[in-house]
Amino acid sequence: LISGGLKHVCVSARSGAIMAEEAKKLAAYAAVDNHIQNNQVVGVGSGSTIVYAVDRLAERVRQEKLNIVCVPTSFQARQLILQHGLALSDLDRHPELDVAIDGADEVDANLTLIKGGGGCLTQEKIIAGCAKHFVVIADYRKDSKALGQQWKKGVPIEVIPMAYVPVSRTIAKRFGGEANLRMAVSKAGPVVTDNSNFILDWKFEHAQNWKDVNAALKMIPGVVETGLFVGMAERAYFGMEDGSVQVRD
Ligand code: 5RP
Repeated sequence: LISGGLKHVCVSARSGAIMAEEAKKLAAYAAVDNHIQNNQVVGVGSGSTIVYAVDRLAERVRQEKLNIVCVPTSFQARQLILQHGLALSDLDRHPELDVAIDGADEVDANLTLIKGGGGCLTQEKIIAGCAKHFVVIADYRKDSKALGQQWKKGVPIEVIPMAYVPVSRTIAKRFGGEANLRMAVSKAGPVVTDNSNFILDWKFEHAQNWKDVNAALKMIPGVVETGLFVGMAERAYFGMEDGSVQVRD
């Protein structure tokens, strides 16, 4: 056992440390192999780790002739599903999902997550909330005892564009720290989400009761959703530096 009660599963350790990219793949393959069965509706997350999960899902669908329907959490996820020749659906046709698989920016010892590094948190949370089982895949860098130990960019919060200044001020006043508008890499303008909103990254100063903070943040007019996922994830798979996969549940 290591921090947070992680268990060793699936893959035996190899000699030599592996890179984060390989660790993402190990976690993604383990989650797909352990949670995907025939005739499922699957929520497909966003980010770089999910790419490996979709690779594996498509491989299994082809090899095992599985009947799988996928519901995306973002434009990126939609493209991935289409590029892999998987069946694409939506919540209108499939409002209940068997399982959702997604990455995370940080996973604490209680499976509380920070998500939204890629700006897709609102649709990701909707999909996770519609799934019977929500499974997280991550490399070893995302594993932490308490939020903020690993992910230094703050909690992403999706906001209605006209409200970003008052929301930012309210967050700083009520909860401390600072909530900054996320800018595009080019710095030419703000990042715009799939829902045409902006993102504030809230750099908090100290650990909080995340359930209460999440609820309070959502009461601020202009806040659409937060990247705090509290009590949603059922299990996390971590690809480790030694080539093993460990689970937390
Ligand atoms: C996007 C997300 C991603 O799942 C999260 O940022 C993890 O991404 P990656 O797998 O690239 O580390 O929440 O909004």
